Amino acid sequence: MKTFYIETYGCQMNIVDSEIVTSILLRNGYLYSDSIQNADIILLNTCSIREHAEDRVKARIRQINSLKKSNPNIKIGIIGCMAESLKEKLLNELPMLDLLAGPDVYRNLPEILSEVDRDNKIINTMLSEDETYSDILPTRYDTNGISAYVSIMRGCNNFCSYCVVPYTRGRERSRNVESIVDEVTSLAQQGFKEITLLGQNVNSYNYIETNFPLLLNILAEQFPQILFRFATSHPKDLSIELIETIAKYQNIAKSFHLPVQSGSDAILKKMNRKYTIDEYLEKVKLLRSAIPDITISTDIICGFSGETEDDHKQTIELMKEVKYFFAFMFKYSERPNTVASRKYADNVDEQTKTRRLNEIIDLQQKISYELNKQDIGKTYKVLVEGTSKKNNKEIFGRNSQNKVIVFPGDISMKGEFVNVEVVDCTSATLIGRLKN
Ligand code: 5AD
Ligand code: SF4
Repeated sequence: MKTFYIETYGCQMNIVDSEIVTSILLRNGYLYSDSIQNADIILLNTCSIREHAEDRVKARIRQINSLKKSNPNIKIGIIGCMAESLKEKLLNELPMLDLLAGPDVYRNLPEILSEVDRDNKIINTMLSEDETYSDILPTRYDTNGISAYVSIMRGCNNFCSYCVVPYTRGRERSRNVESIVDEVTSLAQQGFKEITLLGQNVNSYNYIETNFPLLLNILAEQFPQILFRFATSHPKDLSIELIETIAKYQNIAKSFHLPVQSGSDAILKKMNRKYTIDEYLEKVKLLRSAIPDITISTDIICGFSGETEDDHKQTIELMKEVKYFFAFMFKYSERPNTVASRKYADNVDEQTKTRRLNEIIDLQQKISYELNKQDIGKTYKVLVEGTSKKNNKEIFGRNSQNKVIVFPGDISMKGEFVNVEVVDCTSATLIGRLKN
């Protein structure tokens, strides 16, 4: 029997995909290994969102190749977005690779591996219009037993001009409601307490008559003991119906990830984001008036094609106005095949990108700290996830607002919802004490 090992890069969606691949291979007689040393098959599930992500994987493949020298029978594969995006170019650059498989062909991995076993190199990057792997229950080996991801849709139809995802993951398709409910039922029975519903754009989930608010409604009603989170959302699809649903259920997290990308209308237009800053701010206002305790987080790209100092200042102004509790911030990285790579020059120099990125990171840190200070004295229900990395007499968890809280306590509380009063904070963490 052959043993496989998977290493996962990139987004949460890839974590689920690796769990699905694990199920498919186990079902077909392969054995799972959590160590690369014993594996006959080494798979890297990869990300193409920025060049840096690809560079890391390429370096890792070169490093892994040393194992092949001592055992030439080892097979090495790249699966996921890099396989889809780079295809044979990747094989030319990294000839030690034995297989490339895109995100929609994981069901074929057993056949692909049999071919590879006959010493053929295989590239399969077919995209599908309907593959959702809905019938495959993911195998969660790497889990804390408390939080799980459940994929509800795949692909993206938005074609933001900078983004490679519509090319690597194909068109949007939603998974059937019944299979989602079945998976959540199984997780609930296993004692999971928090489920994050995943998709490139969960707000546009639509399966026959069920849209995303309705799906949330069904799940929140049927599983009152589970806290539901979701990611990620496009501002244009954030509806009143969704806001009302979040407001209605205490077991839907009061935190919303609403990627803005830029504070400048001119840049948003070039990015093909399909909203203006005024429209975006209107959504933020609706969210906050319906759900006063909601936290909002975002993604920001700086140094996109043609971004002027004034555009950058508008991003800074927007951040000051919205006051995100958290932000993922990136330098623009030109991606092959995208509209931006064909139409717009990557013309903000590296030094300027770095300076702008540092400016927004510094600002965000100040804003996070200010907001965290306002939490001092408040008491939150917190789901205990584990022991603090810095101090083993402390445990940590997150509140409904998705803020991490560290507090003195015993790990036997793992998986419980406990009341914690915030007594102090840093820009990244709340510090608390248990309350009864
Ligand atoms: N360069 C930099 N950041 C990007 N993102 C997507 N594509 C790129 C790119 N080409 C960021 C966006 C998106 C997040 C997942 O990654 O902010 O919301
Ligand atoms: Fe990429 Fe835009 Fe789709 Fe997000 S919504 S995956 S940024 S194309």
